[in-house]
Amino acid sequence: MCGIVGYIGNEPSAPILLDGLRRLEYRGYDSAGLAVHSPGGVQVVRAVGKLRNLERALEERPLHGTVGIGHTRWATHGRPSEVNAHPHVAGPVAVVHNGIIENHVALRNELRAAGCEILSDTDTELVAHLVRREVDGGANLETAVRKTLSRLHGAYAIAVLSTLEPQRIVVAKNSSPLVLGIGEGATYCASDVPALLPYTRDMLFLEDGEMAVLEGSGATVTTVEGAPVKRAIQRIDWSPAMAEKAGYKHFMLKEIFEQPRALEDTFRGRLDRQAGDINGAEIGLTDADAADIKRVVLLACGTSHHAAMAGRYWLESLARIPTVVELASEFRGRDAVVGAGDLIIAVSQSGETLDTLVAAKEAKQKGAKVLAIANVIGSAIPRMSDATFYTHAGPEIGVASTKCFSAQLANLVMFAIWLGRRRDALSPERTRELVEALARLPQQMADTLNGTRQLVANLARRYVDARDVLFLGRGLSFPIALEGALKLKEISYVHAEGYAAGEMKHGPIALIDARVPVLVLVPRDDNYERSLSNLQEAKAREAMVIAIANEGDVDARDASDDLIEVAAVDPALTPFLTVLPLQLYSYYVADFKGTDVDQPRNLAKTVTVE
Ligand code: F6R
Repeated sequence: MCGIVGYIGNEPSAPILLDGLRRLEYRGYDSAGLAVHSPGGVQVVRAVGKLRNLERALEERPLHGTVGIGHTRWATHGRPSEVNAHPHVAGPVAVVHNGIIENHVALRNELRAAGCEILSDTDTELVAHLVRREVDGGANLETAVRKTLSRLHGAYAIAVLSTLEPQRIVVAKNSSPLVLGIGEGATYCASDVPALLPYTRDMLFLEDGEMAVLEGSGATVTTVEGAPVKRAIQRIDWSPAMAEKAGYKHFMLKEIFEQPRALEDTFRGRLDRQAGDINGAEIGLTDADAADIKRVVLLACGTSHHAAMAGRYWLESLARIPTVVELASEFRGRDAVVGAGDLIIAVSQSGETLDTLVAAKEAKQKGAKVLAIANVIGSAIPRMSDATFYTHAGPEIGVASTKCFSAQLANLVMFAIWLGRRRDALSPERTRELVEALARLPQQMADTLNGTRQLVANLARRYVDARDVLFLGRGLSFPIALEGALKLKEISYVHAEGYAAGEMKHGPIALIDARVPVLVLVPRDDNYERSLSNLQEAKAREAMVIAIANEGDVDARDASDDLIEVAAVDPALTPFLTVLPLQLYSYYVADFKGTDVDQPRNLAKTVTVE
């Protein structure tokens, strides 16, 4: 998730672009850059780190000109560095891009073979070279971009300049957001509304598969194939603060609702529906490596540890490989028995959690191979690992992890399926079935979020003063019960326990009385009957029981006080759906209590202390 902006008008462009980037910094901030039409051609200034560094660079090398594009980066291909920062230039062409080009490997090979000198590790530079080739062949910028788009698979919002056409910016969109702003004698583009609000409230939203030519007098929109598009201008009444959170009250709520998008981005290029398999190219392990693994050890902390627990379930059931899951803080310094033949999977959203980093380093020193699953490109854990399988959730601003958790689940289940197929634990038929079921998830998640939001908010309102809350689940639902309890504790400061449903009778059942809400996960899977009887046990002790079950589950409805219905999925994939109402529940309890949802007390987004 990056932010892009563009301006064409009569004012100096650099301050407007910088201001836009500042409002988009929440989309990523590991490097930034501008390209501006100047008398000598397109000039570019880029800097690593926060926007302040770009501002300093611009003080030394000011950009003069009234047409330009800008970018704030959240790395997805290539670590944060100046050479990987946008805009990317090829000959007269400069490009900024938000998204992921899936066929980047094939394009890179093709361009290299054709003699292009590619300087960065990014997919975006390849777009610049493709446009340049068309421009060199005599195409105008619009046609050059159009032809280039026909070569791209994946997600993009791009803005392109060419020295040869200084009065024009060409933009295009597919899957990544892009909005155009229509001002007085000026036209803008940006990834999101907030970047443009100080300049204009008249916006034009591009749809997927559309492009536009921006000039000072306005924008001409067409489909990528060239058919004209008539799109009405919309007047936006958001305040800038609302806009930054896309109209949501908190980043956490926005990120909860971003999960379908986070999953789509994380699946992109990895779910090979044609082959009915996982494309494991980015996992960084060969088929021989897959055959050599004797055991998997998952290391993680907090929410990532809960994702890792689901990962163990998948690695055992789908790949039939012995797997253990460890809290990194308990693994490190224990002199654990680990070594050659073990694959360590270090799961960390930030890639910087000290306990996970140290634990993975210790295991590596003992001869184990380390695979990182991380969301932040170039962070410490990926740097020390033998391979990294990145999640593409985009930057997570709320301290309580939500969309990164779902993206971790996605990478873990994809890895388990990939490994299971390589080790002949999964048949081609079951593999294809799972790939198809994964592809359906983003829509099912969106439906579940929209379908449960109001009911969950009502339940949160009803139980906002409960002093203790229990979350119960079995099998794949156990880590989700733990995650539900952790979310509630960390943002609403309510005492909550997540428990393996079958363990309740060994102790925690003593906690239950008429004042304790008990949220029981009873999706249709192999544990369904047993989980339902645990639910009935809680109900028999007069608890207020909320069941989280599949749509239309009459038994769960009859046995509980309230039923939250989630979309029915393959039994192996229930966590993707069941976690959603639990995230919403903790969010609404916290919001009704008036706590600082995005920055709860005593917590930090990245924990780099012992
Ligand atoms: C809870 C939460 C934390 C993190 C934990 C590990 O919502 O976010 O429990 O999961 O601090 O962080 P990462 O994944 O960055 O290693």
